[in-house]
Amino acid sequence: MWKGRFKEEQSDLLKSYGESVSTDWQLFRHDIRGSIAHARALMGSGILTQTEFSSIEDGLLGIQKDIESGQFEFSRDLEDVHMNIEAELTRRIGATGAKLHTARSRNDQVALDFRLYLRDASGQIQQHIRNLQKALVGLADRHRHALLPGYTHLQRAQPVFFAHHLLAYVEMLDRDAGRLSDAAKRMDSMPLGSGAIAGSTIILDRESVARELGFSKVSTNSMDAVADRDFACELLAALAILGMHISRLSEDVILWASAEFGFLDLSDRHTTGSSLMPQKKNPDIAELARGKTGRLYGNLMALLTTMKGLPLTYNRDMQEDKEGVLDSVQTVSDTLVIIAEMMSAASLREDRALEAASDPLLLATDLADRLVEGGVPFRKAHEIVGGLVALAQQKRTPLHLLNQSDFESASPVLTQEVVKKTFDLNLAMAARKAIGAPSPDNVAREIQRWSEQLS
Ligand code: ARG
Repeated sequence: MWKGRFKEEQSDLLKSYGESVSTDWQLFRHDIRGSIAHARALMGSGILTQTEFSSIEDGLLGIQKDIESGQFEFSRDLEDVHMNIEAELTRRIGATGAKLHTARSRNDQVALDFRLYLRDASGQIQQHIRNLQKALVGLADRHRHALLPGYTHLQRAQPVFFAHHLLAYVEMLDRDAGRLSDAAKRMDSMPLGSGAIAGSTIILDRESVARELGFSKVSTNSMDAVADRDFACELLAALAILGMHISRLSEDVILWASAEFGFLDLSDRHTTGSSLMPQKKNPDIAELARGKTGRLYGNLMALLTTMKGLPLTYNRDMQEDKEGVLDSVQTVSDTLVIIAEMMSAASLREDRALEAASDPLLLATDLADRLVEGGVPFRKAHEIVGGLVALAQQKRTPLHLLNQSDFESASPVLTQEVVKKTFDLNLAMAARKAIGAPSPDNVAREIQRWSEQLS
């Protein structure tokens, strides 16, 4: 592609060290779409005749078909996807093919291809997120009346509906989808026409190229357009945060599926056994998903680090952008699909969960609230109930089974009726009726809202 200036063949080592086609071949559809739009603009400016344009378009579409059917062999000697396709085009249609790269550099070409690819990826991942949300809402709906302990510090805190716990992840995933769609907005700027760095003296109608490729605007600074990869960093950041959420869900699943908790049954299809211990049923999918979060963070850090010291504009370092980004896209997509499948087939052991949620200590805060209603300042109420908890522990009796005289000597507010009502789990849940809290009505409404929103 640059034989005019060079007398020696490139070193074999440089060829294998410098090639990117083993990764960026995956951009072939977007590269071809961009090239057809570029060729149409060349025709618009009189660089190509209608016949030449058609021959380029047919040639490119033929190459695309061959790649799709596995009949195209990419060559590492041709470095990247762009040069592989262009060289093949010229081999197929002759001299006209050599006109395609007029007023274009691989710098604006790759800046376009990568934006196009990631815009699509962002849309596909948003769809996978929706499917995982649906799986979680479905599981929540199947166990809509089931309670389990909610935890802080991994210590039992307060009773919650299992559905409320799952819907917390549905909310997180919704923000993840929002971040991906925001990132796609920042990709919505058509860079072609920026050339290598300073545009071209051959003027093309960039706006019609943008329209053809589905961009709402063209980039307004040629140096920025070829130099920055912030859009890829932003996508990686969104995927890293999404990975963190899936990892926390996985961790909950792993804990719930353990004998210590015993809340969740995973299907045989989504677990593995041990080669040694016959009794084992391991939650490998959740563990792998938790583990793969590491590479999502790593890919983000790698690209940020690659970019941070680069002078404007394009530097070859930037070729390192694709491997990590494509890996994150693939990893997140696969993870979302498999976790959705796992959650759809999981079920709560409602009896075990209820038994744990019925621990009266989980309603100690409610008891303090009753004191507050009787005029006791909360800090004082906290101390009084803390004393009752200590007393129950000392007497080795469940909190709600302390003698009535113990309650009443702690505070006259704690009459038998108040105590009885406070430790009634159904009443306790029904009382949590402010917006966002898990009363049965609220949780039912949220299940309904999400089902409708996701359908
Ligand atoms: N394969 C290259 C990349 O991904 C394409 C751009 C090459 N540009 C250049 N000036 N060598 O970055």
